[in-house]
Amino acid sequence: MSTTWFSRALLPWYREHKRPLPWRASRDPYRIWLSEVILQQTRVDQGTAYWHRFVERYPRVQDLAGASEDEVLRLWQGLGYYSRARNLRMAAQQVVERHKGLFPADHAALLTLKGVGDYTAAAIASMAFGLAEPVVDGNVYRVLARVFGIATPIDSTGGRKEFRALAASLLPKDEPGEHNQAVMELGALVCTPREPACEECPLRSRCIARRTDRIGLLPVKVAKTKVRERHFNFLHIRVRGGIYLQKRTGKDIWQGLYQLPLLESDKPLSRKGLQTMLSAQLGKGWTIVAVHGPVKHILSHQVIQGLFWELVPPPRFKAPSDWTLAKQKEVERYALPRLVERHLFPGRG
Ligand code: ADE
Repeated sequence: MSTTWFSRALLPWYREHKRPLPWRASRDPYRIWLSEVILQQTRVDQGTAYWHRFVERYPRVQDLAGASEDEVLRLWQGLGYYSRARNLRMAAQQVVERHKGLFPADHAALLTLKGVGDYTAAAIASMAFGLAEPVVDGNVYRVLARVFGIATPIDSTGGRKEFRALAASLLPKDEPGEHNQAVMELGALVCTPREPACEECPLRSRCIARRTDRIGLLPVKVAKTKVRERHFNFLHIRVRGGIYLQKRTGKDIWQGLYQLPLLESDKPLSRKGLQTMLSAQLGKGWTIVAVHGPVKHILSHQVIQGLFWELVPPPRFKAPSDWTLAKQKEVERYALPRLVERHLFPGRG
């Protein structure tokens, strides 16, 4: 089946309606890579501000490679998925060390960079280097499932294969980068998850979902993501003009960020419950001054219920070695999870 009609109808629409996103003005793989990593899970309007910050602070991949992890995390703060920020810096180092600072014009070589998966490799390959690699993100799944009336679940192995093959068959060899962005743009602006603007769609006359009245039913997803509920008790301890912070390590959310020292519990804690936990883990004699919350913080697979406990420590309290005493004025220099930032700086974000 010839599928050239798809791109022929889509590209003129894209040229007329595309958003003037700053990285679209260039074919610089560094800038395109930055934008694509930032835009995974982030809306374009929010992501654009972060992209500008990164490009200004790190104009070249060498600048990002030479930055400290703390600094990159601080700049990333608020975007979530902090492993992406750590990977970003490591991938920059790989580009400098293995490729003399030049991104490789090759899908397989791009895939070996830290944090670069099929989506990002295809985006860089097609947009920066004009290689015919299909990009498949959530927008693309939705557009293709509807236009071609495909009910194969997008989160199944078979589904991923089928959609990738279809996306590849639609790619025009002369401008794959424009085409890839056009499909994503259509998904973002017209073929939206709810209430798509079908009247404005350049593909409406060929759209099978529209013809068969299945727009609301496509795409199909099998698994509902399981959401885990967690209870975080943050310890807000003011001493000598500062507060304690604790750097998060280990394989969990917010790795590398600083938080108020944390006791996690399996259910919401009463004052008595917290006293018991404090005594067991940090010694007896704590005074609870106040408690704030619960504050609900929603992540993709977890719901965090945060309680913030204002505490006075026992006399001669010795903090655990992984706590840092941060002067009040210096707290804002640390990369904090948004949940903690909102508690310490209520006016912000
Ligand atoms: N979403 C992520 N990257 C995009 C791009 N380059 N164009 C349109 N939407 C996108």
